[in-house]
Amino acid sequence: MKLKFDYNNMMADVIGEHGIDANGFTSDADAIKAAYEDVMANLGKGWQEWTELPYVNPSDLDSLIARMNDIRSKATAFVVLGIGGSALGPISVVQALLNMRLNEFPQSALKAAGMPKLYIEDNIDPERMNELLELIDLKTTYFNVITKSGETSETLAQFLVLYDLMKKAVGKEEAKKHFIATTTIGKGTLYNLAQKEGFVTYGIPAGVGGRFSVFSNVGLVPFAAVGIDIKKLLAGAKEMSEACRVADVKKNPALMTAYLQCKAMEKGANISVMMPYADSLKYMSDFYCQIWAESLGKAVDKSGKKVHAGQTPAKSLGVTDQHSQVQLYTEGPFDKVITIVAVDKFRRDVVIPNDTDIDACEFLKGHTMGELLNHERVATEYALRKAGRMNFTVTLPEVNEDTVGELLAYYEYETAFAGAYLGVDTFNQPGVEEGKKATFAMLGRKGYEEKLAEVRAAAKKSEYYI
Ligand code: PA5
Repeated sequence: MKLKFDYNNMMADVIGEHGIDANGFTSDADAIKAAYEDVMANLGKGWQEWTELPYVNPSDLDSLIARMNDIRSKATAFVVLGIGGSALGPISVVQALLNMRLNEFPQSALKAAGMPKLYIEDNIDPERMNELLELIDLKTTYFNVITKSGETSETLAQFLVLYDLMKKAVGKEEAKKHFIATTTIGKGTLYNLAQKEGFVTYGIPAGVGGRFSVFSNVGLVPFAAVGIDIKKLLAGAKEMSEACRVADVKKNPALMTAYLQCKAMEKGANISVMMPYADSLKYMSDFYCQIWAESLGKAVDKSGKKVHAGQTPAKSLGVTDQHSQVQLYTEGPFDKVITIVAVDKFRRDVVIPNDTDIDACEFLKGHTMGELLNHERVATEYALRKAGRMNFTVTLPEVNEDTVGELLAYYEYETAFAGAYLGVDTFNQPGVEEGKKATFAMLGRKGYEEKLAEVRAAAKKSEYYI
């Protein structure tokens, strides 16, 4: 494992009364063991099929890589259509591993580098769709439609719009070659459409839920399409998986931080801030927010008892949010745990010139921007610690396929252990499904007539409005 975990600033003997009592490791040993065993007993089973994804035989990926290399050589743009778990893994990984300004390069430079522009469309805002259409040349654009259920209204709507336009632009036979479907094999609207139209189709295993799907074809197809080394990404995920399968909580990073987060919740810290100190890791917070919120935010525990569990995740970015939110973190209510994600070495750095004669800037001269950023991170950790605020730091030696794979696998296991410790069903999302059904009903989908009556009846009761 290449990531390092420093949880000193979570502990009461370091930060004082608002920290976690280290005696808990003994008094809660049975509960920690039970959470660990719950996850371990289900490795590769039921909704925990995601745990096996990093263990795929690397040579099984060769044909996917070859097909995506071919598409990359022809594409000026690769567009992912998906939402929630079908988009956030891809968004977080491409931000970390591709040039952050990829789409701003002139097309000629991208062509020379053999790179398409990449767009991940995870909303149905019509203005955004129009702007995309103004930018891309359909004749050389390839679309990857991703939906596990094959039924999500947003993704199907995007697909219908773009397939129609593509058919008009290049004719039906050619249009089919521009769409790749990633979905559950054998069922769902997208699968049926893909079969009928003859799209290249990649499957998502039944027991892999959206927010745990980044190492399935949900992530692998778009990553391979833009030349990310998916074998290295999975190797990193596998290495972290091994670390997260160790029984000793003091040696298992995901079990440790899941336990500490759960103890923090018991103490009223119902907000979990994810604060990477690197723009490349900015969207790791979005990935984390979804997996943490959708997995732990549950009305009932597994026995059916009302618990209204969960911890509200919040996004923050170092150093930007030092000038926005850190004041609240250090002096506001004791209701947060802050996870800082650090990077030891930036892939590229910028030296601040030391030959300037501006005396007031003496202290900056000759340092690098990376050094300044990391000093500011350490300063924030110090300020939080001094103010008695729970925080812990996950450090990547560098951002690359390997460490990004490790980080995402850590989030998955941390969430699974936290859900098991809280006793909730980590892998369902009844609240999300309720909204999906209400949308189908309001759009007049067949079979949702009863739901429509229910939605209308609920609307009638709304008396308070301006
Ligand atoms: O994590 C989840 O299960 C959800 O966030 C889904 O990913 C999201 O609702 C999209 O679903 P689908 O992939 O079926 O289109």
